[in-house]
Amino acid sequence: MVSIKSKREIELMRKAGEINALAHKAIAEAIKPGVSTLELDLIAERVITSNGATPSFKGYQGYKHTICASINEVVIHGIPNRKHILKKGDIIAIDIGTCYKGYHGDSAMTHSVGEINEDKAKLLEVTERSLYEGLKYAKAGNHLSDISHAIEKFVKQYGYGIVQEFTGHGIGQSLHEEPSIPNYGKAGEGVILKEGMTLAIEPMINLGTAKVRILKDGWTVVTIDKKPSAHFEHTVVITKEGYEILTKLEEDDV
Ligand code: MF3
Ligand code: CO
Repeated sequence: MVSIKSKREIELMRKAGEINALAHKAIAEAIKPGVSTLELDLIAERVITSNGATPSFKGYQGYKHTICASINEVVIHGIPNRKHILKKGDIIAIDIGTCYKGYHGDSAMTHSVGEINEDKAKLLEVTERSLYEGLKYAKAGNHLSDISHAIEKFVKQYGYGIVQEFTGHGIGQSLHEEPSIPNYGKAGEGVILKEGMTLAIEPMINLGTAKVRILKDGWTVVTIDKKPSAHFEHTVVITKEGYEILTKLEEDDV
């Protein structure tokens, strides 16, 4: 069952999403060569807790940190580590979740560290755009898989690998709720979108093969060909006209 959120619940998720966006902003400002992913984690934690919220990932299935920080060939779930130091030419995906008064916001973006090569720049551009290509179909009355299909169709033109083992998801009082939202598939199938559904859409796109594996730490997901990967995610609420992004700053509204 996909839950429908009330106005009040959406308001709380908007607040969670806004704090999450503040944490992203603070991290974006801190990213530079020489910074460790553990430092970035502490920055995000400080922003979230000082705004009266809690990090959604901390304690989730035993995860110990506020963010996932995934450098280059790490697709998702990179564990913050003081030995993981950013260097010029890296790309780093930052995934953050924030819980405010029992409601979650979840979003990810991939940053460049200094100047990056053309392959990586194109990968970032296409992955971010694919999120919005999918969201064009996020509208009451459409099928959920219309979003999935649009992401796949857009990404395929570039020959990139679309990660299949991990998906987007419903979100609300839990970080992960029904439905799961693959980044590929046929249009016109599955759940019909309704006003008040809250979804986290999150394409994970690889420069090379789609194939991934999990490192021995049990978390870190890497591409098997060691080529770079990018990840962008927003939490949205379905509306009559389309969708509203919840994981953004209020000042971005206009
Ligand atoms: N943000 C991830 C997602 O989008 C979840 C991270 S797993 C965690 O589903 F353990 F770090 F929380
Ligand atoms: Co997510």
